[in-house]
Amino acid sequence: MSTVLNIQNLTKRYGSLTAVDSLDLDIERGQVYGILGPNGSGKTTTLGMVMDIIKPDAGDYNWFGGIAVKDARKRIGTLLETPNLYPYMNAVQNLKVIAHIKKVSDPDIDGLLKMVNLHQRRTAPFRAYSLGMRQRLAIAGAMIGDPDALIFDEPTNGLDPEGIAEVRDLIGRIADQGKTIIMASHILDEVEKICSHVAIIKNGQLLATGSVGAIMDSDITIEISAEDINALKYILEQDEHIGNISNIGQEKLSISLDNDYGTAYVNALAFRHNITLTHLVLKQKSLETEFLEITRNPQTKTY
Ligand SMILES: Nc1ncnc2c1ncn2[C@@H]1O[C@H](COP(=O)(O)OP(=O)(O)O)[C@@H](O)[C@H]1O
Ligand SMILES: [Mg+2]
Repeated sequence: MSTVLNIQNLTKRYGSLTAVDSLDLDIERGQVYGILGPNGSGKTTTLGMVMDIIKPDAGDYNWFGGIAVKDARKRIGTLLETPNLYPYMNAVQNLKVIAHIKKVSDPDIDGLLKMVNLHQRRTAPFRAYSLGMRQRLAIAGAMIGDPDALIFDEPTNGLDPEGIAEVRDLIGRIADQGKTIIMASHILDEVEKICSHVAIIKNGQLLATGSVGAIMDSDITIEISAEDINALKYILEQDEHIGNISNIGQEKLSISLDNDYGTAYVNALAFRHNITLTHLVLKQKSLETEFLEITRNPQTKTY
């Protein structure tokens, strides 16, 4: 694996507010990396720092193993704020302007417009575009010069459901080309659907990192019951792989298990103690449940 972006102890203060607090991150090639956190958690500030727009107060970052920032920026396409494109120009003209600014001499404008599904509307002025079309054109602009990495800050903000679906689909297709994508979002569902990896931040602090699948799979929850629920509870309490045990009403228990242990393990455990289970259901946690737990219990977790 090769590291696209490494962030160490990155910190930004605004007066007494610490917007980004000793952040450490590693983003590897080919990952679709979500930076997930509520509004005001420091996502945009982090992206601003790694793009050399905002000066950190402490810490460091390096791109592509430590090449000069000036060179790194040529390999990164960004969509940081609401796209700033010329309203009276059409899609082709706008992309030509971006190519000129980026000093890309032979941009594949037709190919990019096809990729973002705007080829048929390429001669209509930008001002006539829907928000979703504008966002897609901006993404085409970010792709000019064939960057290795893309940074998208809240790419679906303000879009209607159809626009959101189109932008998500587009990001998925860009990821399929092998590009590394770093995406800030406050929308859990979006990160769960698009990203392979996630860093969860709150108040500028890293709360958890890992693959989206691992975060979803970790600490599996099982609902369980037996005729003698007290006997069952007793043996579960003695087991090292079983974490939280809580009652659901009078008849059922909810237990959490270490990653890699599942219903078969619990079943065998009960069997060994001659306890017949009357109920055994695996409840897979969504990233949302994890997110809520993590943000309530601020303690960095690595999955
Ligand atoms: N230029 C600034 N001056 C003062 N405070 C700022 C500035 N930019 C951001 N902040 C504050 O820093 C915190 C993080 O902001 P931001 O990075 O924009 O969060 P996010 O992108 O996660 O919504 C917020 O509390 C915000 O109000
Ligand atoms: Mg932001």
